[in-house]
Amino acid sequence: MSLIGIEALEFGIEDLAASEQFAADFGLMHVRPGEFRTQNGARVRVFDKDDSSLPPAFEPGPTLRRMVWGVATQADLEPYRENLRDRPGFRDLGDALECQDPNGMTVRITVSTLEPVALTVPPINQYGDMRRIDEPSPVYDQAEPVGIGHAVFFVDDLDGLETLERFYCDQLGFVVSDRYIDRGVFLRMDARGGHHNLFLLKLPHRGRGLNHVAFTVRDIHEVIGGGIAMTRKHWSTFIGPGRHPVSSAYFWYVNSPLGGAFEYYTNEDSLTENWQARTMHHSLESFTEWAIEGGIDVDTRRQKKTA
Ligand SMILES: [Fe+2]
Repeated sequence: MSLIGIEALEFGIEDLAASEQFAADFGLMHVRPGEFRTQNGARVRVFDKDDSSLPPAFEPGPTLRRMVWGVATQADLEPYRENLRDRPGFRDLGDALECQDPNGMTVRITVSTLEPVALTVPPINQYGDMRRIDEPSPVYDQAEPVGIGHAVFFVDDLDGLETLERFYCDQLGFVVSDRYIDRGVFLRMDARGGHHNLFLLKLPHRGRGLNHVAFTVRDIHEVIGGGIAMTRKHWSTFIGPGRHPVSSAYFWYVNSPLGGAFEYYTNEDSLTENWQARTMHHSLESFTEWAIEGGIDVDTRRQKKTA
C-alpha cells in the first residue's frame, strides 16, 4: 500500500466570487470555473456548499468536503478496495474508491495524474556549503504553489483522535512521524517522504473540522513573497511568517474564504523508515520556534500593527 500524493481538495463554499479570487490570488492556476491547479497538476475545486454532488460536511460553513489521494497504478487500488469496502460512504467508481474517514471527511483514492515539475531553485549559501555563486537570492512578487502537501483536521476528542489515526495507518498505510501527548499526531502517507501529509489535532473547545490545507513552494523566499502578495491583495494573515520546529518548515497561513486557512510552506523534514517517531508535549515552543502574528505590512515591511 502506498499513496503517492494529494491529487485534489474539494471545498463546499458560500461565496463563489471571493473563493475564486482567493484561489487565483494565492497563485493557483485557473483551469475552468470552480477549478484551479498547482504546478504539479493537483486540483482545488470549489462548489456551492449545498451542491448535491458534494459529500456531507464535517462542520458547518465553508470547509473541505473531499480529499483525493493518488496511487501510482490501477493495480495499486486493489488493497484499498478490500480495506475500505465496509466503511461508511463506500463507493467503487472503478478507477477510484471513496469512503468517509471516522472524522466525517470523505476520502477518495484514485490513479494519480500529478506531473513532475522541474524548477530552478537557487540554493541557500550556508557556512561550508556555498553553492550560489555570483547570483543573488530571489525575491518573489507572488507564490506559484508546486503542489498540495498536507491537511490538518480537528477531532472531537481523544478517542476520536485514536480511531482516526488507526484508520489512516491500518487502512491507508500511513506512518506516524511524531506525536503530541494527548493532543495530536503527525502522519505521512509513506515511510519515505515529507514529515506529514496529515496532522490530526484535538484542541480544547474545538470540535471536528478543518484547520488548514498546505501548499508546497520552492523556498523560504517564496513563502515570504507569497504571504506579502496575499497581504497586498487584502487577504488577512492567520499567522506567519514563522517556523515550526516539529517539521522544520517555514510557514505563512492566510485565512481562506474556502474554510480554515491556506498555508505556504517549505523546507520540511524529509523522512525514511529509519526515522524514530518522537513523543513531545504540545507547547508554544514545540509548535513555533518563532512566528509573526497577523503578518507583515506591505507598506512598512514591518510587523503589521493591530489597531
Ligand atoms: Fe501546516
